[in-house]
Amino acid sequence: MAFREDHDVKLPVPNGWYAVAFSRDLIKGAVEPIHYFGEDMVLFRTRSGEARVLDAFCPHLGAHIGEGGRVIGETVRCPFHGWQYDGASGACVKIPYCDTIPKAAKVGTWHTAEKNGMIFVWYHAEKKPPLWDVPELAELDDDDWSEPIHFELIVNAHVQDMHENNNDPVHFQYVHNLATGEPPGEIKYFDDPRHYQIVNHSETVTPVGTFETSLVRDSWGVGMSAVRLEGIPEAGILLYSSTTTIDLQPSKTVSRWVLTASNNMIDFVGDDFLHRLMEGVQQDQRIWSNKVHRANPLFCKGDKYLIEYRKWVKQFYASDPAPVRAVGEG
Ligand code: FES
Ligand SMILES: [Fe+2]
Repeated sequence: MAFREDHDVKLPVPNGWYAVAFSRDLIKGAVEPIHYFGEDMVLFRTRSGEARVLDAFCPHLGAHIGEGGRVIGETVRCPFHGWQYDGASGACVKIPYCDTIPKAAKVGTWHTAEKNGMIFVWYHAEKKPPLWDVPELAELDDDDWSEPIHFELIVNAHVQDMHENNNDPVHFQYVHNLATGEPPGEIKYFDDPRHYQIVNHSETVTPVGTFETSLVRDSWGVGMSAVRLEGIPEAGILLYSSTTTIDLQPSKTVSRWVLTASNNMIDFVGDDFLHRLMEGVQQDQRIWSNKVHRANPLFCKGDKYLIEYRKWVKQFYASDPAPVRAVGEG
């Protein structure tokens, strides 16, 4: 009988930072039910402006705090009987009809970070605190760059299978109809082994001339990456994304993207340009949603980057935080 791996991936959620919302979608005082990593949570923005994430269910009678809860100062109030939970500690700080607060009145907290137009939550299988920070991308706070475009995509695939595309230059030819085949390039690792970069070189024809350009793709953990087009003087494009597990069985994942380009570039290529780039991302969807996860793929010699990816990605499933170095590194 032919061997076929299960359609549903058995991989767990890799440890790391994952976007759970675009910053602009959460105004002060907003309370939202969210569901990621197979867990129910409540996301809210306090009156001082902090984005907070707590476990969803109230220790009292089990109401979902995100379904009708209200922000009061730095706390969120349960919609059922008004118990108030501090956004930072998760501790119940007030029961409106009782002077004594039970010691166990506390909901689980999630570490959050807000950068690059997104709100991130730290996921660790053993609930360890964050092992690294979300990097800040300067282009997203630069007046010489366009107002970013945001979009999101729900895909029935595991976050690892989606991020693996970053190490897959061959698919650009077949999925994205780029006729170049595999452009020459190199992979670079950093002191922080969570971060690596792949650079591919090519010639790009633009309205202002033809340039030796580089497609620079940085990754920081599984599912967070930045793709930059460099080499056109004083101009550039940035596609930043974070891909977050919603559920594992069956696999459901959301990919959030922020796209921007230098204003001089937009002036040449037109406002529509970033929207056309978004369509390129969607071309992967049919492959992702219908593939199986190969725990042991049949690689050929030309799959150098994919082989490297499978080694690098192991560190995010390790219970020991010591990172696994990828091959080719000293
Ligand atoms: S269930 Fe939350 S206060 Fe009662
Ligand atoms: Fe792709």
